[in-house]
This record gives sequence, structure tokens and C-alpha cells, in this order.
Amino acid sequence: MGTLKQITLYIALFSFISPSSAFSLNNCTISTPLKDIQPKVLCYKMGFFRIPSIPGNTHILDISFNAFTQIQIGDFNHLSNLQDLNISHNKISQIQEGAFDSLSNLYSLNLASNRLQAISRGMLHGLTNLLVLRLDNNYIKDIEETAFSTLHNLKVLNLTKNQLHYVEKIKPVLASPHLEELYIGSNHLNAFKSYEMSTNPLALKILDFSNNPFATFQLTDNIFQFLNHLDLSYCGQNGTMTWNVTEKTFFASVKSLYFMDVHMSVQNAANVLQSFQNLLNKIRLNGNAELNRTDLLLNACSPVLQVLRLKTNKIKHLNEHMFDLCSNLTEIDLGDNEISNIPPGMFRGFTQLKTLRLQINKFTRITNFFQNLFTLEFIDLSRNSIKTLNCDVFANLTQLKMLYLYSNKISIIESCSFKDLKSLEVLRLGTNNLLRIGDAFRNGPQSLLELQLSFNKLSKIEKYTFRNMSQLKYLHLQDNQISEIESYAFGGLKNLSSLFLSSNKISAKTLTKHQDVFSGMPNLENLGLDANIILFTDDQLKFPPFKDLKHLTVLSLHSQRRGIGQIPSNLLQGLSSLEMFYVGNTNLAHLNPDTFKFSPQLWFLDLSKNALSEDHSIPAELFHPISRLTKLLISRTQLRSLNFLLNANLSRLSTLKATGNEIDLINKTLIQSLPRLEVLDLQKNTFTCDCDNEFFIDWAKNSNSTQVVYLNKYMCSYPSSLRGMSLSAFNTESCTLNIDFICFLCSSIVVFLTLLSSFVWHFLRFQVVYAYYLFLAFLYDNKKKQSGSTFQYDAFISYNAQDEPWVMEELIPKLEGEQSWRLCLHHRDFEPGRPIIDNIVDGIYSSRKTICLITKNYLKSNWCSSEVQVASFRLFDEQKDVLILVFLEDIPTHQLSPYHRMRKLVKKRTYLRWPKPGEDTKIFWQKLKLALEAKEGHKSDLLIP
Ligand SMILES: *[C@@H]1O[C@H](CO)[C@@H](O)[C@H](O)[C@H]1NC(C)=O
Ligand SMILES: *[C@@H]1O[C@H](CO)[C@@H](O)[C@H](O)[C@H]1NC(C)=O
Ligand SMILES: *[C@@H]1O[C@H](CO)[C@@H](O)[C@H](O)[C@H]1NC(C)=O
Ligand SMILES: *[C@@H]1O[C@H](CO)[C@@H](O)[C@H](O)[C@H]1NC(C)=O
Ligand SMILES: *[C@@H]1O[C@H](CO)[C@@H](O)[C@H](O)[C@H]1NC(C)=O
Repeated sequence: MGTLKQITLYIALFSFISPSSAFSLNNCTISTPLKDIQPKVLCYKMGFFRIPSIPGNTHILDISFNAFTQIQIGDFNHLSNLQDLNISHNKISQIQEGAFDSLSNLYSLNLASNRLQAISRGMLHGLTNLLVLRLDNNYIKDIEETAFSTLHNLKVLNLTKNQLHYVEKIKPVLASPHLEELYIGSNHLNAFKSYEMSTNPLALKILDFSNNPFATFQLTDNIFQFLNHLDLSYCGQNGTMTWNVTEKTFFASVKSLYFMDVHMSVQNAANVLQSFQNLLNKIRLNGNAELNRTDLLLNACSPVLQVLRLKTNKIKHLNEHMFDLCSNLTEIDLGDNEISNIPPGMFRGFTQLKTLRLQINKFTRITNFFQNLFTLEFIDLSRNSIKTLNCDVFANLTQLKMLYLYSNKISIIESCSFKDLKSLEVLRLGTNNLLRIGDAFRNGPQSLLELQLSFNKLSKIEKYTFRNMSQLKYLHLQDNQISEIESYAFGGLKNLSSLFLSSNKISAKTLTKHQDVFSGMPNLENLGLDANIILFTDDQLKFPPFKDLKHLTVLSLHSQRRGIGQIPSNLLQGLSSLEMFYVGNTNLAHLNPDTFKFSPQLWFLDLSKNALSEDHSIPAELFHPISRLTKLLISRTQLRSLNFLLNANLSRLSTLKATGNEIDLINKTLIQSLPRLEVLDLQKNTFTCDCDNEFFIDWAKNSNSTQVVYLNKYMCSYPSSLRGMSLSAFNTESCTLNIDFICFLCSSIVVFLTLLSSFVWHFLRFQVVYAYYLFLAFLYDNKKKQSGSTFQYDAFISYNAQDEPWVMEELIPKLEGEQSWRLCLHHRDFEPGRPIIDNIVDGIYSSRKTICLITKNYLKSNWCSSEVQVASFRLFDEQKDVLILVFLEDIPTHQLSPYHRMRKLVKKRTYLRWPKPGEDTKIFWQKLKLALEAKEGHKSDLLIP
């Protein structure tokens, strides 16, 4: 047995990572379980420069932010199911014609932010179902005439930020007959003359011409019959655009115009606006501070205009009559100006106005600005400097639903301010100077659904503060200084579903001093108490604070600034609906086994960033009451093993995240105790690369029900000789003595003997000579053994003449030059005049190892040659590990089949593979060095420790 085991010598450590349908992809994650109908694979920001191996059924692939420089034919051959492909933010300057041929199911292709300079004829060939194509942010100067001719279904094309310069160059894209959205902003287009693009009607609905310095804009044919939206923002940077639209009706279908920050004279702007015949519903005139607004509005406004945006126009004073012509507006945006007052009667004739945006202005107080605007539904007054709110400011705004007053300087609110707001649903008062709430909300607004009071200076919540807000669902009180909460502080909030109290000064005392702190809100589902100073010292609480929260599903207690101390065994009492519990980052060192006995519905538990290093920090019994647990996060908790899960009965656990711990072993029993595991993330642990982890490594590579996230990044920490090696590269086949191998060996010997005898029969002469040399070799070897002599060379190199350049340029400089091995090469070290076979026997026997450099040529000519015969004779005869196989090129296993023995060798053992062009060779040389260093005739201490 021992001898046989000795024969299962290692050769090398590296094994091919084969494309498979397994879950663990190198540097990619599958974001939806493989069971999903549309698997989505995410490989962004990973430094890839070629398409990684990805399951063939992938529908959505994101390989953006990598280092691709080109796309070649064949890259996507096995991905014909792909529907959505994002290769943006790479360095692609070349796409081979036909590279996308297999992607006939693709409907969205994102090539934005690359280095393409031209779109050539066959580049987009095959994308017959493509709907959306992004080519923005490249250096495209040219598009070949027929480049788009097979894109019959293209609807959206983004060519923003390229170098097209001339409108004629855009013409080829119109070969896609259904193109509806075309974005060609920022292309340095100097002139638009419609006949250069087309004289026939186009299907375009959206056209973005923004950021082009048009000196001329000439429309002489009715090509934009279906155009709905036109973007001319930031155009005419030259200040002298000539606008010539020969028929008034050419823009008759345009309903929406973006006309922001244009650089043109008032007269020019007026000309442009007049072309739209006052048919616009929506216009953006943002950032046109230089134009005379009275004139601009005169031309822009019309009774059909509904949306007017005048953001960022440096407007200081509003003129009472400026909007007289657009009195049917439903939305007006005056944000980011310098307005401090609204003249009374300004909106006098407005009967439809629903949205009024006045954010980022200079208001310090509001008077009766909104008088008569009964239709208003949304007022945005955020980011001003309003100090007080008078009682009648919002009088009669009975339809108002949303009122934004955040980021002002309000220090007091009177309850009368909101008294008429019978429909108010959202009130945002965050980031003000409120010190107390007092009576402000005692009477409502009763219809309010969301009240935001975060980032103020509140310190205390008094009894029944929100008594009459029975509709309220969301209450934001985070980032205040609340340290005291009276009993029934939230009493009356019958429908409250979320209460946010994070980042306050709430302590354990705040929660437990009074009996009914969280009483009176029976429907609360989400309670945020994170980032406070809750520190428990007792194992048992007198008044469990959450006892009345029967419907609470989410409780956050993470990130307590002084640590949580412990979780009292009855802290969660009453939380019979609790589903998610966050208690990470709280310096928790121990969990009481009874913690969850009140919360049987829990399925999500976050314990990350704690200090659970002790053996019994997490007792298995902790999990017994929560058998529904499906997601467990225990990253960065100083864990040394996951064995506490063995008896936890977590039969439903599907996601386990335990990164950044000190886990070294994962055994079979553990994996078997988690039958529903779908995602396992164990990055940044300290794995042991030995046979104890054999099951885990094989399972992680091959499981098709569990995705082991970024398996290829898991590193060996032990034994020290393998530190830094990838766990998945550890060769587990050396761990088991394989019955197959024994059979192979026996049959090989039988076959060999049979062959030998028949050879001896048939080719007597040759074989006798050969046998003679083998005998010589045997004698030679014996002599060596007796004399215990040392070897003359470290390695004999067997290779095909065609691979000589590699030997000369790569191997010799590295092995002889840097690593100082003595090599035996036939062209150099063979004694001239001696018979070649003598030289070979001599060479092999005076070298400790024989390195075979295997290529297809080598297999054809040298395999079965005398060199290998002699070396393998030595292998089998001495049971020494002398043969090192180095593959200089990928030879698929099926191509090895004619070389039966080689194939078996390769299947049974690992071997070294010369990296593909572009890959790092350091590891290769490192492994070769290890292989050369290993003592022959001994078990490999690398593989069979
Ligand atoms: C995976 O990513 C790491 C770092 O992001 C990188 O060093 C490694 O080369 C990548 N592996 C592959 C196969 O691209
Ligand atoms: C078009 O490209 C620009 C520039 O990259 C980008 O900002 C914009 O969102 C894109 N629009 C669409 C519809 O893809
Ligand atoms: C500005 O207009 C002049 C002709 O009037 C033209 O030569 C020049 O290229 C234009 N500049 C830009 C940035 O478009
Ligand atoms: C507008 O273009 C048409 C056709 O090229 C031309 O006949 C006409 O004179 C131009 N009008 C102006 C004002 O430039
Ligand atoms: C803007 O135009 C109006 C009408 O043409 C004129 O009365 C007003 O003085 C102009 N304003 C400025 C600042 O030029």
C-alpha cells in the first residue's frame, strides 16, 4: 500500500479551471440563484482583460470597469442566451468583425466609455434583436455606411460624447428603420442641415442635440414628424447660431423642449422658441441667466404649457406679470435662484398649479405667497433660510399633499401653522433648529403619513406628542439628541409602521426606566435604534421595552457607540413577529442561548463585526427557536470555526456570510448540516490547504446548488509553504488513493508486458537493443545507488525541436540563470560521437528529474520516444518521482486520448501549465521550483503532508 501511495506522486499543483455550470466563478458572482430563469452574472471591477468563463445560460452579464482592450471572434460564442451585456468602462479600441455574431438574443449592449474610434461594417453584425445600444463616451469619428444595416430592431442609440463633428456622419445609423431615440450630444457638431441627415421622415421620437456648438441649425424637410422631445441645451456656444426652420409645422409634434443654458441672443432664442408654435407642454429654460427673461417667457409661454423649469437662472426679483401668459401651468420650478419674495397676486390667474418649487433660494420668511393657489399639491421650500412659520402661511391649501421645509433655520413650530392642511401627507422638517416639539403636532395634521424631524436638536419626546396623527406611517427622529422618552411618548400612532431613532443619545436606561416607552403603536413594523448608547449590564430586564410591539418585523440595534454589553435574555420579549434583527458592530462577546426564544419568525440575523472568538460565544441552542433562519451574517467576528452550526438545525439557511474571520477548516458534516445553502461567502479567512479541506474544496468547485462567492480569492494560510496560494488550486486528488489509479497501473503493467513480449517477438532486434539499454540503465542506476553518488544535473529537459526557442529564451535564463539549477540539454550537454541512446540514458540518470515540455508536436514526435521510456522506466522501476510534466499549450483532454498513458497521467495527477499570454508567470516559476526542490522518492510534503 505504502509503495503504491508513494507512486501517486505529485507532479504539480495547478489544475485547469474549466468553464462549468458550477456556482463558483472566478471573480464573478451570480446575483440571482442559478435556479432563476434569467441568471445574472456580475464581474465588474475585477481587472479582467478577457471574457472569463461564465455559464452558458447567462442572460445578463456585467463586465464593466475591467481592462479589456479588444473583443475577438469567439469571445461570446458560448453565450448565445445573453440578453443584456454591459462592457462599458473598459479600454476597448477594437472589436473584430463578427465578434457579436452569436448574440442574436441580445437586446441591450452597453459599450459606453471605451476607446472605439470607428464603427466598422461587420462589428455589430448579428445583433438582429438589439433594442438599445450605448456607444457614448468613446472616440468615434466614423461610422461605416452599412454598420447599422443588420440592426433592424434598434430603438435607442446613444452616441453622446464622441467625435463625429459632421451631421452626415450620423446618417448610417438611420439604416435602423425603427430608431426612436437618438442621443448625439457633445459631438462638436458645428452645423445641422437636415438634408445632410435625411430628406425623408424619420421614426425618431427623442432627439438629444445638447452640447453641440451649432453655428447653423437648418431644417428644410419635414423629417421630424414624430419627434416628441428635443434637447437643445448648451447649444450655440458660439453665440451666433442661425436658426432656419423653413416651415412652421416641422416641429408641430414636439411637446417637450430642453433649452437650458443656451448661448444665443434674445432674438435668436425667440426665433427658436417660435418654431414650436406655442405647442410645448414642457419646457426647461434652466440656466439662461443671460437672456432677458421677460422676452424669453413671452416666447416660451402659452396656454398649453404645463411644465416650466427656470432653475438656476440667477433670478432675484419676480415680476408680478411675468407668468401671465402661462397661467395653465401645473408645475413651475424656480429652484436655485436668488428669490426672497413673491409679489402678491403673482399667481393670480393660475388655476391648475400643482407643483411649486422654490428650493435653494433666499427666503427668510414666508408670508401669504400661496394665497388662492388652492390647487397646490406640492411646495418645495427646502434649503432656504426660513426662521419662522406664521400661523396663516399655508391657509386654505386644502389639497396640499407634500410640504418640504427641510434645511432651513426653523426653531419653533406652532400647531396652527398646519391647521388647514387637511390633505397633507408628507411633511419634511429635517435639518432645522428645533429644540422641542411641544404641542406642534397635538392636533395633526391628521392625514399625515410621513413626518421627518431628523437632524434637529430634540432631546426629549413627551407623552402623547403625536396623539392625533393616527394615519402616520413613517416617523423620522434620527440624528437628534434624544435621551429621554416618556411612557406612551408615541401613544396614538395607531398606524405607525416605521420609527427611526438612530443616532440619538438613547441609553439602556431610556428604554427601561419607564414601563411603556414603546406602547401605543401596535402596528409598528420597523424600529431603528442603531448608533445610540444602549449598553446592557443585566442578564434579565425588569421591563422588557418591546413587549407591546407584536407586529415588529425589523429591529436595528447595531453600532451602539459604547458597545451593547450583552443582549438580556428577555430583551426581545413580545416580538413574536420579528423577522430581521441587526446587532452588528456592538462589541458583543457572547450570546445567551435564550435570546431568540420570543422571536420564532426570525429569518435574518446580522451579528457581524463583533468579538465572538470564544468557543461558546455562539451556542448552538441559540438557533433552536429560530429554525426559519435563512440569512446569517457573521463576518468579522473573530470566529475560528463554524462548528457551532453543526447542531444548530438550520435546515433553511440559504445565505451564510462569514468573511474576515479565522476559519481554517470546513468539513463535510458542516456542509451537510446546511442542506439549503445557496450562497456561502467565506472570503478573507485563514484556510488550511491540506487534505482535511479536501471535501470542501471539491464541493465548492463543483456544487451546483451552492454558490461559493469568489472562491478563487480564498487563500491558503497554512501550511506555511503554501501560504498565499489559492485554495482552489490545491490538488485534492493526491489525498485519496484512487482505485482507478491502481487499476490503471495494473492494467498498464499488463499491457506493457503484453506489448513488450509481442514487440520482442516481432521486432526482436530493436527490442533487444532497447532492453539492453534499459538493462544498462538499471545497472547504471544500481551503481549509483551503491556509490550513493550525487547527480550531475538537477533536471534533464525533454522537448521537441520546435519548442527550442522557448527553452532558450524562457526556461534556461530562469532555471539556470535565476534559480541556479543545472540542466541537461541534449544539444549542449551530449557527448558528440556517442550513440544517442547512451547519451539519453546518461542524461536522465545523471539528473534528479526529467522535465517533459509537452506540446502537440511533442506528443506527435517525442511521446513514446526513448527519452520518455527511459524516464518512465526510472519512474516505475525506482518508484521515484522523476517526471515533471509541463504543458506549454492547452491540450484538451480529448486530444490526449491517442496518448493513452499520458492522458491517464494527466487525469490522475496535476501538472504545470505555462500561463497564457498576458498571465503572470511568477506562480508558474514558483511551482516549478517547488517541484524541482522536492526530494525524489519521497512523498511530496506539498501534497501529502
Ligand atoms: C481576480 O481578481 C483579483 C483581484 O481583483 C486579480 O488579482 C486576479 O487576477 C483576478 N483573477 C482573474 C482570473 O482574473
Ligand atoms: C447617453 O450617454 C450620456 C453620456 O454618457 C449619459 O449621460 C446618458 O445618461 C445616456 N443616455 C441614455 C438614454 O443612455
Ligand atoms: C464658431 O464659429 C466660427 C464661424 O463663425 C467657426 O469657424 C468656429 O469653428 C466656431 N467655433 C466653435 C467652437 O464651434
Ligand atoms: C433658410 O433656408 C432656406 C433653404 O436653404 C433658404 O432658402 C432661406 O433663405 C433660409 N432663410 C434664412 C433666413 O436664412
Ligand atoms: C427685457 O425686455 C423687456 C421688454 O422687451 C424690457 O422692457 C426690459 O427692459 C428688458 N429687461 C432688460 C433687463 O433688459
